[in-house]
Amino acid sequence: MVRTLEFRGMKCRQVGGSGLWASEVGLGLWKWGDPSYDGSRVGDHEGFKILDRALELGIFFWDTANSYNWGSGNSERLLGRYFRSRGKRVRDRVVLCTKITNPVREEHEEKADFTPNQRGASRGYIMKAVDDCLRRLQTDYIDLLYLHSPTLDEEGNYETPLEETWGALDDLISQGKVHYLGVSNHTAKQIEEAMGALRKVAKGASRRIIVVQNPYNLIERNEVSKEEGGDEQAFLRFCRERRISIVPYFPLASGLLTGRYRRDNIGRVGGKLIDDGLQERYLTDYNLRVVELLDDFAKRKGITMAQLAIAWLLAHEEVCSVIAGVTKMYQLEDNAKATKVEFTEEDMAAIDEILEKAKTSE
Ligand SMILES: NC(=O)c1ccc[n+]([C@@H]2O[C@H](COP(=O)([O-])OP(=O)(O)OC[C@H]3O[C@@H](n4cnc5c(N)ncnc54)[C@H](OP(=O)(O)O)[C@@H]3O)[C@@H](O)[C@H]2O)c1
Repeated sequence: MVRTLEFRGMKCRQVGGSGLWASEVGLGLWKWGDPSYDGSRVGDHEGFKILDRALELGIFFWDTANSYNWGSGNSERLLGRYFRSRGKRVRDRVVLCTKITNPVREEHEEKADFTPNQRGASRGYIMKAVDDCLRRLQTDYIDLLYLHSPTLDEEGNYETPLEETWGALDDLISQGKVHYLGVSNHTAKQIEEAMGALRKVAKGASRRIIVVQNPYNLIERNEVSKEEGGDEQAFLRFCRERRISIVPYFPLASGLLTGRYRRDNIGRVGGKLIDDGLQERYLTDYNLRVVELLDDFAKRKGITMAQLAIAWLLAHEEVCSVIAGVTKMYQLEDNAKATKVEFTEEDMAAIDEILEKAKTSE
């Protein structure tokens, strides 16, 4: 059983059998940065107000990465400016999660080439990348650091010996620069291998991988395994048994599961999903039928579609926080209320039925 508590009306869950608490509703900050040149959708002016409000609502589990927005580093820079303007007391209220393995440009640099040592999972890269994260974030610690993805060569072998990678990450814990470790875009086998390497090099039994961040939402269920032909239930079981929490990314299928995109408005409605060119992935006949049926269900429950999609994920005890990407204040306020939605077994079965029914209905 996952331990829970309530803070400012927001339920919180403990992450992966560790002492760390996450707010059930978190905040995804991929599309935050400097919209004037990095393809992001939120800048300081509107962003700072959303961040202030997030903390008021008890949404303190914030997710970014060193390379968000075309390798610009600007999502971290925006957060750094926010922490500088609000002070250390505010910084300390946030569980700040970031990711490394990708290369990052200097500020305002529009193009750069990188040596093979400026990306990946070598000791040299990891140490430098984390110092750069701290500089951009204007803080002296990262609460949760993820390996953004496994760094593999063309044959699918690890580019860097895993003991080197996890030895460097373990050292960062000893130095106090990082408090907890996670992985992203990893299969169960890769997590097992990473855990094995960390066990060999770790300086203490508490040095564990406590979380995996993979894609997961109610229409892309097997994606969570990050494997061709992978199985949702087997992956959830794996995480439960290893006491690893899941942080789903694409929890709203990039906006599809908010009900904004309908069969009768395709081509006329814009948003992140369209800007990211994800039409083929998400705007399929089947998905759009699911949206129509889920909309009826959400209306009957008196909730919004986004709340439904978030509450469905939270109905899985393996999930510790849902970090939906937010680009407007109303979205934050809407998503925050998902913590109040409790789905019964009958509700979950009804949602499964909808997913089945959409396969046959026109
Ligand atoms: N580890 C990885 O490799 C990886 C990959 C992708 C994402 N992530 C993380 O996961 C987070 C979430 O994923 P995501 O942002 O890509 O996709 P998402 O959460 O599935 O969708 C976010 C989009 O949904 C819309 N939205 C959110 N709340 C809404 C509401 N209440 N009502 C209406 N629309 C709403 C917004 O669209 P508009 O902007 O169009 O309004 C927003 O940009 C990211 O921010 C990032 O932190 C990690």
